[in-house]
Amino acid sequence: MAEINSKADGKPMIEFRGVAKSFGALKVLERVDLQVAKGEFLVLLGASGCGKSTMLNLVSGFERASSGSIWVNGREVKDVDPACGMVFQQYALFPWKTVRENVEFGLKMRGVSRKERAKVAQYYIEMVGLKGFENSFPNKLSGGMKQRVSIARVLANDPDVMLFDEPFAALDAMTRQVLQEQLLSIYEKSGKTIIFITHSIDEALMLSTRMVVMGSKPGRVVQDIANDLPHPRTADVQLSQRYIDLKRSIWETVQVEVMKGLEAGRL
Ligand SMILES: Nc1ncnc2c1ncn2[C@@H]1O[C@H](COP(=O)(O)OP(=O)(O)O)[C@@H](O)[C@H]1O
Ligand SMILES: [Mg+2]
Repeated sequence: MAEINSKADGKPMIEFRGVAKSFGALKVLERVDLQVAKGEFLVLLGASGCGKSTMLNLVSGFERASSGSIWVNGREVKDVDPACGMVFQQYALFPWKTVRENVEFGLKMRGVSRKERAKVAQYYIEMVGLKGFENSFPNKLSGGMKQRVSIARVLANDPDVMLFDEPFAALDAMTRQVLQEQLLSIYEKSGKTIIFITHSIDEALMLSTRMVVMGSKPGRVVQDIANDLPHPRTADVQLSQRYIDLKRSIWETVQVEVMKGLEAGRL
């Protein structure tokens, strides 16, 4: 834990400054002020439709704020930002390209030489545990393996920030646990700044250094809590009193937000 925290030097890597976002008459986000320090692993939680994906789309530059501004590594986001890599729930791989070609794609687009691309791709393919599958096509891979290709592809681009939009939601529980452990190990090695969306409070507790719960309609931050659980986050950690206390605290906030939604007839 100390080792992980030492990477966070306090300078915001990602910053939302008074951000509001509407789609036509629909107010999705209101007054979002959020700073994510370099090296943090921030998990976003909140009911469906509260604007979590919209927040990632704003950071990556896929969407523009209606007011306020978003900053990544000291630069205001004005366009699709190569400093951000996104991993989606749907794998978004090219089905006609092999694992290696998928991982090399961003490097090829940036004009990196064939030899250098192959070296970088191999490094990340091995990091996500896919050695031996370099020449396989995505349709020959399991869901977990496809998601590991997506992660390797993002890592190969060496972004400052990695954004994960419910990346493990479609996977079975065992595969999900293995990928969580792999992601934590990659995070510890790479020192990336991460924003990760999940509906699972347990997943949030296992992965994050910090958890932010969003309220709905319009979306805003309703809880912001440091996750000080020790590493490695083994099964024993999940039985600790601190784990249970944190889980209850997050769960209560999420419940309040869901009930508000029900009372307002929105869900
Ligand atoms: N491009 C878009 N055009 C119109 N409405 C959108 C668009 N993207 C998202 N929305 C709406 O914004 C709200 C928040 O969506 P989203 O950010 O996907 O929520 P979450 O990821 O928390 O489930 C939803 O009501 C959704 O329908
Ligand atoms: Mg979403």
